[in-house]
Amino acid sequence: MRDIKIAPSLLAADAAKLGEEVCRVEKAGAEWLHLDIMDGHFVPNLSYSAQVVKALRPLSNMFFDVHLMISEPQKYIDDFIDAGADLITVHTEAVKSTYKLREIADYLHSKNIKAGVSIKPKTSVEEVKDVLDVFDMLLIMTVEPGFGGQSYMADMEDKIKSAASIAHNEYKHLDIQVDGGISLKTVSHAASCGANIFVAGSAVFNASDTNAVVSELRRLASDAYTKR
Ligand code: DX5
Ligand code: ZN
Repeated sequence: MRDIKIAPSLLAADAAKLGEEVCRVEKAGAEWLHLDIMDGHFVPNLSYSAQVVKALRPLSNMFFDVHLMISEPQKYIDDFIDAGADLITVHTEAVKSTYKLREIADYLHSKNIKAGVSIKPKTSVEEVKDVLDVFDMLLIMTVEPGFGGQSYMADMEDKIKSAASIAHNEYKHLDIQVDGGISLKTVSHAASCGANIFVAGSAVFNASDTNAVVSELRRLASDAYTKR
């Protein structure tokens, strides 16, 4: 069984106290911290820069999972490596070339950083199938990227299933992450299709009892994943 991980998305945190918010989710037992980087071009919204990631790095031992929703991610990868990312995910729609995706994965691995590739809701798993041998994680967006607090798109579940079957049959190393609208209501659905890494922004940061939500997300995900 692949490890189940909960990755709170900092986008939903109180921006006036990011450091405290990072500590809040780490104390609640989250293993990963999901950092959404947006450029106002690849997605119609802006978030924070590598400088913010770097400032948060010394505060936490969590695995820093950087999700680049930016055009030409190649230009900024070194900044995020320098900031302390453990894994960097790029969008196939932003890179647009199998050759370049492979180059990015190889480059990240040469720097001892894990590599993720992401697909937006309108992109099929087939479109990235040929590069999954070099990536550590496939991120299947379950909302249109750009904003937190949107509703989970259940029609992405066929994609999760097909990615899980590819992972099971061909790429045993591949983690499958879902991002967007993951909550106590939806996490089991995504897990029962074979996702094992769960990004949750508003569900975690808007909860009054953070510890309870993180534990419950993990319990629901593990149960559904195991029973598949
Ligand atoms: C959306 C981002 C997500 C977002 C998730 O573009 O990639 O990580 O913050 O937020 P929720 O869990 O609130 O949908
Ligand atoms: Zn994200």
